[in-house]
Amino acid sequence: MGHMLVTGGAGFVGANFVRHVLSRTAHSVIVLDKLTYAGSLTSLSSLRGPRFRFVHGDIQDAALVDSLFAEVDVVVHFAAESHNDKSLEDPRPFLNTNIVGTYTLLEAARRHRVRFHHISTDEVYGDLALDDPTRFTEESPFDPSSPYSATKAGSDLLVRAWVRSFDVQATISHCSNNYGPYQHVEKFIPRQITNVIRGRRPRVFGDGTNVRDWVHADDHASAVLAIIERGTIGRTYVIGGVGEIQNKTVVELILTLMGESSDGYDYVADRPGHDLRYAIDATRLRTELGWAPQYADFEAGLSATIDWYRHNETWWGPTKDTVETFYTARGQ
Ligand code: NAD
Ligand code: DAU
Repeated sequence: MGHMLVTGGAGFVGANFVRHVLSRTAHSVIVLDKLTYAGSLTSLSSLRGPRFRFVHGDIQDAALVDSLFAEVDVVVHFAAESHNDKSLEDPRPFLNTNIVGTYTLLEAARRHRVRFHHISTDEVYGDLALDDPTRFTEESPFDPSSPYSATKAGSDLLVRAWVRSFDVQATISHCSNNYGPYQHVEKFIPRQITNVIRGRRPRVFGDGTNVRDWVHADDHASAVLAIIERGTIGRTYVIGGVGEIQNKTVVELILTLMGESSDGYDYVADRPGHDLRYAIDATRLRTELGWAPQYADFEAGLSATIDWYRHNETWWGPTKDTVETFYTARGQ
């Protein structure tokens, strides 16, 4: 049995990961989370008992981080400022948390010799043309477009340097877009589902031809667990390759699944620097580590996600108006 520290465990992907670990392994888990606007303790409220503990704090707090690293043997680092549109408005918190925060954790990993897994994104690879036959692999060059993805790429380079220079026992993963329960309503899929629930028309940026490669958060969790258990130190793994689909098609599917007319949405102002297409080739993860997604059927996963938002308005309701005010000011 191991002792695991999960940073950012009150956020969307982190909370789903913690749930996954507690239900499928014997590990005990400490969550360290600052509870920014994106973190929610209610995402973890059903988790009680001796194997789970929550610590409220900032990953940039070196003394707190040091004391927690002394208690564990593995650290999984999800904590980040994660939203592209917010990074276009105010990049500073992205530099602080994603770069300085990751540096703070790496220094503690170096002192305590813990196993460290860094969660990154496929966005560090930039974007692809719609008809490009290649997909992102572990060898793809970094070419980030937004302040968010640039800070994630910066944090990845720090991890690589700490592995090489200080022998930190780390791995890195780059996952494509996640969907599922507990995702903040600022993000594409929950924004559109909750728009429909509230009787508001979905909003698609630009011409809606942008492609994302959707992975269920639970499949992201199983991939990260496989990397921690069986991955090679110093290696990078890309996660995804499950569901490439255009944004306008996703919205049409949401409307249809929710019993509305599939053309009942609006095109709004595009995101500056908007990446056109992400696509993942997860051959390494599948062949070396035997990972396979449980949610290979995107429509079934989306339908379950719609049900979750329908039944959990108390979770997302209080944040919805603030998000819509933010987008309205941007013409979106
Ligand atoms: P999120 O915004 O939902 O959650 C981020 C969490 O980190 C929140 O709970 C927040 O309170 C916490 N946090 C922020 N700053 C902190 C700080 N300084 N100290 C401690 N905690 C802090 O994000 P998410 O979508 O769950 O993404 C989690 C990670 O996964 C990020 O590193 C992101 O880059 C990566 N990722 C996300 C996706 C996706 O589609 N959501 C895909 C690939 C990779
Ligand atoms: O690829 C992994 C990344 O996926 C993660 O690193 C990020 O943390 C995560 O936020 C996500 O980034 P995106 O920018 O791709 O996700 P978002 O949900 O913001 O947008 C998905 C697509 O939908 C994108 O092409 C923009 C578009 N969009 C988004 C919103 C909020 C719309 O068309 N309308 C909207 O209202």
